[in-house]
Amino acid sequence: MQDIKFSYKNAVAQDVLNGYKDAVSRCQEMLDNGTGKGNDFLGWTTLPRDIRAQISDIQATADLLRSRCDIIVCIGIGGSYLGAKAVIDALQSSFAWLESRKPYIVYAGQNIGEDYLFELQNLLKDKKFGIICISKSGTTTEPALAFRLLKTQLEQQAGEEAAKELIVCITDAKKGALRTLANKEGYKTFVIEDNIGGRFSVLSPVGLLPIACAGLDINALIDGAERMTELCGTKSSFENNPAAQYAAARFALYSKEGKKVEMLANFHPKLHYVSEWWKQLYGESEGKDGKGLFPASVDFTTDLHSMGQYIQEGERHLIETVISVAQPEHHVEFPHDEANLDGLNFLAGKHVDEVNKMAELGTMLAHIDGGVPNMKIEMPMLNEYYLGELIYFFERACGISGYLLDVNPFNQPGVEAYKKNMFALLDKPGYEAESAAIKARLK
Ligand code: PA5
Repeated sequence: MQDIKFSYKNAVAQDVLNGYKDAVSRCQEMLDNGTGKGNDFLGWTTLPRDIRAQISDIQATADLLRSRCDIIVCIGIGGSYLGAKAVIDALQSSFAWLESRKPYIVYAGQNIGEDYLFELQNLLKDKKFGIICISKSGTTTEPALAFRLLKTQLEQQAGEEAAKELIVCITDAKKGALRTLANKEGYKTFVIEDNIGGRFSVLSPVGLLPIACAGLDINALIDGAERMTELCGTKSSFENNPAAQYAAARFALYSKEGKKVEMLANFHPKLHYVSEWWKQLYGESEGKDGKGLFPASVDFTTDLHSMGQYIQEGERHLIETVISVAQPEHHVEFPHDEANLDGLNFLAGKHVDEVNKMAELGTMLAHIDGGVPNMKIEMPMLNEYYLGELIYFFERACGISGYLLDVNPFNQPGVEAYKKNMFALLDKPGYEAESAAIKARLK
């Protein structure tokens, strides 16, 4: 079986990359031996092996929800929903919501949109639905707010006792309001281990339960991730280790070339949320102490018609990492047309993906000519196994990369700043002093 491949030759010279070999090796050892910053959050490094014992429980819970629900609402924000949405969107039909296959997964608690919640409540009216509520802390405002609203609706529609069987919570083993509520109501629960941070949790029940609920193969996802633990781990040589090379290449471009922004680009519309997941992973892990590449993303060719000009000729602070999918799942052949009024007969007989691949190659060459270093991650195809490989590859590279930057890649202290202000403005009990200060400031 092939693996995903990483290539840096259009971004960094071989000898420059090799210069980081020892530094990367030290970072790898810090991850394996737990001697680096944030070493109480390294549970993700061995998760592909450790999670095996829980797979049958996760699958049985998913099967039960699937048998009883037409819609499953996945409540969570940040690392508590992006990984699941990334995998589900990558593998389900682009029009799944219009097809009759059930259940369909929808999301809540990832925003505070009143109209969004109104429309969701309307959609769920008279529908057979279930809820997966995911919050490690169990106290995050957005999911807590959505959960109270939807739990109430589910109890009214299905009855209180039936609702208890249609709600699954994924949270801390002991702490937090969601744990207290789940214990009191007797909901089925899964635990997010203390040593696994939200953005590194997609291979835990946080990601696996919703993914299994969507009817996808979580064993294959874990198989792919486990394969990457071998390829990206300490035992794999620098020359054969894609995560080590990716981390070294982006660090070289950031620290030696002064690049400030990494764009993750795809030529496959189903990968949009993989980029959203990646942005959280790298943004929250590296963006601290005044350091870090800013993670941005573009969907090509769509965004070539909006962002293409800037990428080609704007400020030269960009690097680009392309996720390329070698084989599409389906084939659509372009037809010949006798009249040829659109002048497209030169494409007749080609598959749509052949055109897409030439757009990809042409874009890469143009961007290199325009001074945008180009790295490439090639996936043989989009399936659970290769997404598992991709997830672990990015996680491992992120851990190495954070240590190369000398930051703690596993905390997110900056996320608290807005919450403190919001609670003060909403007069949350316990925030009286902050409330007085912020109101004086706004006068
Ligand atoms: O990576 C993280 O830890 C965060 O982004 C969290 O995923 C996010 O804030 C949601 O937190 P919680 O799961 O505690 O509700």
